[in-house]
Amino acid sequence: MRILVLGANSEIGFAIAETFAHRENADLILASREQPALERKVEDLTHRHKVRAEAVPFDATEYGSHAGFYRSLEPKPDGVVLAFGHLGNQITAQGDFAQARRIVETNFLGAVSILEIVAADFQARREGFIIGLSSVAGERGRRSNYLYGSAKSGLTTYLGGLRNRLAPSGVHVITVLPGFVRTKMTAGLTMSPALVSTPDRIATDVYKAWRSRRNVIHTPWFWWGIMMVIRSIPERVFKKLNL
Ligand SMILES: NC(=O)c1ccc[n+]([C@@H]2O[C@H](COP(=O)([O-])OP(=O)(O)OC[C@H]3O[C@@H](n4cnc5c(N)ncnc54)[C@H](OP(=O)(O)O)[C@@H]3O)[C@@H](O)[C@H]2O)c1
Repeated sequence: MRILVLGANSEIGFAIAETFAHRENADLILASREQPALERKVEDLTHRHKVRAEAVPFDATEYGSHAGFYRSLEPKPDGVVLAFGHLGNQITAQGDFAQARRIVETNFLGAVSILEIVAADFQARREGFIIGLSSVAGERGRRSNYLYGSAKSGLTTYLGGLRNRLAPSGVHVITVLPGFVRTKMTAGLTMSPALVSTPDRIATDVYKAWRSRRNVIHTPWFWWGIMMVIRSIPERVFKKLNL
């Protein structure tokens, strides 16, 4: 099995890559912007798991490069993990459209651009799987992160549509909705310790979801309950909460 990880410098993305290397002996294509960091990951994977791995440059918002990037991959991957993302800073992005645009483009448009190319290939081959990392932040708009949240909401809906489109071709799409995870993305944020998870825990849940062909998972599982409660709060109450 050969897996393409888009945004492989992501701590969660790399933990998923490592889990597939360890449990499935999967070969890996690690794609992201920071090549030196990727090269170190390639060395680590090939040394510890005896799989084949390669580092390739990929920028989610360089849309014009995506077709050529995917065309250059030979052989083509059997599965794709979409892991790149950009949290940004909600407060400063509210007054700076360039920042807001980067949040929306990285989390949503970049994903649409590359996954449409992957989807066409998988659909024609009638095989493959896509694992998309969205977020519980996309389940309800909140003042503290609605730019990121709305982009993830778009991504969640997009992945649902892709799953619907590709299911008749035997291509499986998994939507992953993590809660708080301790990574460089959330460094410096105040998060309730009881709710914070690790990249390894998310990777284990994703691997189990892939094995059992789940469609949508909250990870860790208790976020399903938390988000059910949050979604059920009436808007007249919700708009007064400082969340
Ligand atoms: N951490 C959390 O609490 C949490 C919760 C819910 C969902 N998520 C989602 O889970 C995914 C992984 O998150 P993480 O915490 O592992 O993130 P992370 O460690 O901060 O890594 C994010 C990675 O995204 C890559 N990236 C950003 N912009 C990119 C671009 N334009 N092109 C290519 N790569 C780009 C960066 O790669 P380079 O270093 O190569 O630039 C960066 O290493 C993200 O989609 C995130 O939104 C995270």
